Amino acid sequence: MDIIPLGPGFGAELRSVTLAEIAADDAAYTAARAAFEEYSVLVFRGQEVSDEGQLAFSRRFGPPEVTKVGSLGTGTHFVILSTIGEDGKVVPADSRLALRNRANQLWHTDSSFKPIPALTSVLSARIIPERGGETEYVSTRLAFAHLDPALREKLEISFAWHDYAHSRGKIAPDLASPEERAVLPPQCWRMVWRNPANGRGALYLASHAYAVEGMDPAAGDRLIDELMAAATAPGASYVHAWKRGDVVMWDNRATMHRGRPWPANEARHMVRTTISATAADGLETIRPPSRQAAE
Ligand SMILES: [Fe+2]
Repeated sequence: MDIIPLGPGFGAELRSVTLAEIAADDAAYTAARAAFEEYSVLVFRGQEVSDEGQLAFSRRFGPPEVTKVGSLGTGTHFVILSTIGEDGKVVPADSRLALRNRANQLWHTDSSFKPIPALTSVLSARIIPERGGETEYVSTRLAFAHLDPALREKLEISFAWHDYAHSRGKIAPDLASPEERAVLPPQCWRMVWRNPANGRGALYLASHAYAVEGMDPAAGDRLIDELMAAATAPGASYVHAWKRGDVVMWDNRATMHRGRPWPANEARHMVRTTISATAADGLETIRPPSRQAAE
């Protein structure tokens, strides 16, 4: 396995290895896992990806999420990110599906609005547009390291509220349906997620974050906005331009990402598997103290 660094201080391409080898072989998994902990974003190119193969690879890293109500693929282990409607045609730009793609174009980390947040997401490109549709990543670990030490100390003991309806509301007021709101109540997480494998802290934030526990709403908003701006400053990102056969996985504890736009008349079809964080990934350390005590 060769590790080729990619981005500004994070991200790497793993060459001379397939998803199937990592799924089947303990030594290959151990090496890939170490690269994941170190680089936060891993790129595999030229893979022959089936749904089953992607799931077998993903399961190596932990328990797969079951796709929530309201997403394509609900009830399975797959999230289908597609602009192809049931009739086989590309959906209009004002359809719910297209609006949801726009919500994905806000900087976020996956599943911070869920009762169990995600360790990693694995995304494979099945149909890609001629131009555009890239996925852009930043390292919230590097962003955290660059903050003023006093602010870092404060964030270590601060907690933010995350809500799916909040990020969807930035695109259209009713984009999160009543069913989604009912199953996805707001969640509160420590604003720094420390990686148990290497001890490095990362800002844990997303477009879903809307309030800081114990701060007045305006000041909390301001802090979230400032931290989001610092993490996504120009020059800090790795932009992945997709090719067929590409698979990218990322550490949701230590990165944010956003989709980039593409021509509305072109099809794009991606398949995501998402792995829940466990205690070994530091999950218990990001819960607010009251809930740590209660559970
Ligand atoms: Fe995402």
